[in-house]
Amino acid sequence: MTQDRQDRQSQDQRQSPGRSSRKRAEPRRIVVAVSAGIAAYKVPELVRELTRAGHAVRCVLTPRATHFVSPLVLETLTGHPASSSLFGTATPGSSDTTAAEIDHIALADWAELVIVAPATADLLARMTAGMADDLVTAVLLATRAPVLVAPAMNVNMWEHPATRANLETLRARGVRTVGPDAGELACGWEGQGRMSEPVAIAAAASLALGSDSLSGEVVLVTAGGTREPIDAVRSLTNRSSGRMGFAVAAEAARRGATVVLVAGATALPTPPGVRRVDVGSALEMRDAVLAELPDATLVVKAAAVADFRPANPQDRKIKKESLAEGGGIQLELVPNPDILAEVCRLTKEQGSHRVIVGFAAESHDVIESARRKIARKGCHLLVANDVSRSDAGFDVDTNAVHFVSPDGEVEDLPLLSKDEVAAHLLDRVAKIRDGLR
Ligand code: C5P
Repeated sequence: MTQDRQDRQSQDQRQSPGRSSRKRAEPRRIVVAVSAGIAAYKVPELVRELTRAGHAVRCVLTPRATHFVSPLVLETLTGHPASSSLFGTATPGSSDTTAAEIDHIALADWAELVIVAPATADLLARMTAGMADDLVTAVLLATRAPVLVAPAMNVNMWEHPATRANLETLRARGVRTVGPDAGELACGWEGQGRMSEPVAIAAAASLALGSDSLSGEVVLVTAGGTREPIDAVRSLTNRSSGRMGFAVAAEAARRGATVVLVAGATALPTPPGVRRVDVGSALEMRDAVLAELPDATLVVKAAAVADFRPANPQDRKIKKESLAEGGGIQLELVPNPDILAEVCRLTKEQGSHRVIVGFAAESHDVIESARRKIARKGCHLLVANDVSRSDAGFDVDTNAVHFVSPDGEVEDLPLLSKDEVAAHLLDRVAKIRDGLR
């Protein structure tokens, strides 16, 4: 390693945020390559998201991208030159030669991930062709790191067969994509073509990096709905698919944690590297959670636990014929124990630094209910989602959630895939952990 690279790495370590004495994971090294689209105005926010997550970031721009976002802003946010030139100075006529020192090969080698945001139709075409006639394309051609592109363009350009074919080629080469989203476009058209929000790109970056930020942690996740028996064949349950909790378990395993997944009713396959304990009722889930709890350093309770269970489940099937003609059944329901509240109470009593996250599915009054709930349960973070939306919550692949803190502070996340929510959630959990230990 050159002295210059050693200096840069030690500087990155000094820049990483944190208050704890716990040994931090090395910052992950990300190059953000900016091409000339109006969405470049969101890049400073993306850089902030990435640095907040503890990553070391460098920016490079195409020459025309400098019309859309100031390299000075990116230099200030990253603390490093943000160049747009393969040779000479970034700004023609400038006497500042710092930018001239950007070595595209060194930068390509340094990167653990290259994010292209925004990725214009033109840049995607030049990537596909393997061009290297400016700093951005040269870094992209020289790097062996994974590449994540966040396309942004007019809807007709997005739908053009040339762009579709380019993307197909790039994906076949292993390039990952995030977005674009649909909505109002800067060009005045409506449709697909908006660059994904910075938070979504940062979440996709975490997935692409497969960070080891949770190595040494034992993560206990609950997922799916519980099944409360009425008789030998019937039960009360809910529409939870288990996808959110499974996404958290999969992502925690990718980040190097030992993961135990206590799964209720779900048809999902066990994620790689995860130990799964299947349960039926809330009482069984409570037993399994309490058995695993002593080893757990992080707990994420994404299960939809039934609040009530039939008071007298029958061992045998209740036969229709045994009922009076046309008669129904009265089911007496009794409350289930609140597992999350119990886990929080035990953790507090033990003086443990275990981080505990709860989920709350709400159909109305989402934030206020979540604030009351986090106070009642005593966890470190509550993930609230509005299950009245058709594109979020139960039984869909996307989720629109709000992170609610014990002090009532709320962070709203845009509509994200459940994998992206999981990545974002675990970034947040790692930060809470670093604050506690
Ligand atoms: O009170 P509510 O059901 O909305 O709280 C949701 C959160 O509490 C979820 O994290 C869920 O897994 C957990 N919970 C639990 N035991 C219950 C009910 C909910 O652990 N009996």
